[in-house]
Amino acid sequence: MRVYGESPSYDKLQNRQVSRWKPKTWSWKIWAAAAFSVLAVVAIVVGAVLGTEDSAYPKYSALTYTLQDTYSGTDFFNQFDYFTGYDPSLGFVHYVPYETATSPQYNLTYASSSSAVLRVDTTDTDASTGRYSVRITSKKQYNSGLFIFDVLNSPYGCSTWPALWLTDPNNWPSHGEIDVMEAVNQATTGNQMTLHTTDDCKMNVKRKETGEVQTSNCYNATDENAGCGVQGAADTFGEAFNANGGGIYAMEWRNAGIRIWFFPRSSIPSDIPTDVSNTTAPDPSSWDEPLADFPSTHCDMSSHFQNQSIIANIDLCGAWAGATSVYTAADQCPGTCSEFVTSNATAFKTAYWEWSSWRVYTAS
Ligand SMILES: *[C@@H]1O[C@H](CO)[C@@H](O)[C@H](O)[C@H]1NC(C)=O
Ligand SMILES: *[C@@H]1O[C@H](CO)[C@@H](O)[C@H](O)[C@H]1NC(C)=O
Ligand SMILES: *[C@@H]1O[C@H](CO)[C@@H](O)[C@H](O)[C@H]1NC(C)=O
Ligand SMILES: *[C@@H]1O[C@H](CO)[C@@H](O)[C@H](O)[C@H]1NC(C)=O
Ligand SMILES: *[C@@H]1O[C@H](CO)[C@@H](O)[C@H](O)[C@H]1NC(C)=O
Repeated sequence: MRVYGESPSYDKLQNRQVSRWKPKTWSWKIWAAAAFSVLAVVAIVVGAVLGTEDSAYPKYSALTYTLQDTYSGTDFFNQFDYFTGYDPSLGFVHYVPYETATSPQYNLTYASSSSAVLRVDTTDTDASTGRYSVRITSKKQYNSGLFIFDVLNSPYGCSTWPALWLTDPNNWPSHGEIDVMEAVNQATTGNQMTLHTTDDCKMNVKRKETGEVQTSNCYNATDENAGCGVQGAADTFGEAFNANGGGIYAMEWRNAGIRIWFFPRSSIPSDIPTDVSNTTAPDPSSWDEPLADFPSTHCDMSSHFQNQSIIANIDLCGAWAGATSVYTAADQCPGTCSEFVTSNATAFKTAYWEWSSWRVYTAS
C-alpha cells in the first residue's frame, strides 16, 4: 500500500511540505494511513507466525540406537538405591531399605532369572503409622535415550499410587520429571503419562498421539503441579492391563521431543526383541502413532530434562491417591485412605509391580 509519494509531497490541508523521512511534517491523514498500514503489516506477520505455530512439528527422523544398559535377572535390584526418607509426596508409607525389602520376612523386592517384583507389605494388620513399601532409584542417570520397559504386572487397589518414572531427585523440578506409568487407587481410568518442568514448557501445540490430553502446561507452578498429562485407555494400567499379560512401555527421549508407546503383550512390534540376550536395537520410526507425544515445539528438551534416574515405587495415599476427591466410595474404596492402609493388609496383594526387564538404548 502506497501512503505517500516517492518525493516530498505537499499537504494541502496543512499547507506545508511533508517528507516521508520527517514524520513531524505529516498531517493526520498521513498519520492515519501510516498507522493503518503498520497495523495491516502487524496482522499479516502475527497471522503468519500463528499459522506456522499451528502446523509446527519437530522432525522425529530415524535414529540408530545401541543397547547401553539391561536391567534383568537376579541382580536387577543391585542397580538401584533404596529411598528411605520422608515421602516427598506426603504418602502414608514407610519406604524401607534394601535389607528389609529383600529379607525373607518381608520379601518386598525379589528378583529371579525371569522377573523382578516390587510390592507393598501384605502382613501388618495394624500399620497405624503407614505401611511398608519400596521406592528404588537407578544409580545410573541418563540424558536421552530409548527406554523399553517390559511390564508383566502393574499395581492397583484402594490407596495405592504406583509409578514408573524418571527424575533427578536432587534437582527437581529444574532437571525435569518424565512419568511413564502412573495411576491411583483402582486404576480403572488408565495410565497417565506426564512431564513436570520449570517454566516455558507447553504442550498446547500440534501433537501426534492416541491418548487424551489432560493439561498442557508442564510448569510445576501451574495447575497445582499437575504437569502436562496424557491419559491412556482403561487397559493401559491396572487389572485390565494385567489380565492381558501386561506389555511394553517404550519411552523415547531426544531433542525433538519425548514420546511414549504402549504395546499390549499380544501386539509387541517384531523389532523389539523379547529375549534380553538379543542386543538388536528397536527402531521407533517403524512404529505406529504413540500413546503420548510431547514435542519440543514449545519446550526445549535439553534445558528442561537432565540427569534422569529411573524410579519405581508404590506410594500409599499421599497428595494424589489420598486426596478426598480422589479416594472415594465411587471407586469402591471404603472409609478413609489411611484407615484402609492401616488395617486392610490382604487388600495389598494386588499392589505389586513385576517386570521382565528394562532396557536402555542410546542413539549414536
Ligand atoms: C518372595 O517373592 C517371590 C516372588 O513373588 C517368591 O517367588 C518367593 O518365594 C518369595 N520368597 C519368600 C521367602 O517368601
Ligand atoms: C515448583 O518448584 C519450585 C522450585 O523451583 C518450588 O518452590 C515450588 O514449591 C513448586 N511448586 C509446586 C506447586 O510444586
Ligand atoms: C534379535 O531380535 C531381532 C528383532 O526382534 C530379530 O529380528 C532377530 O532375528 C533376533 N536375533 C536372534 C539371534 O534371535
Ligand atoms: C549431571 O551429573 C553429572 C555427574 O554427576 C554432573 O557432572 C553434571 O554437572 C550434571 N549435570 C547437570 C546439568 O547438573
Ligand atoms: C479390604 O479390601 C478389600 C479389597 O479391596 C475390600 O473388598 C474390603 O471391603 C476391604 N475391607 C475393609 C474393612 O476395608
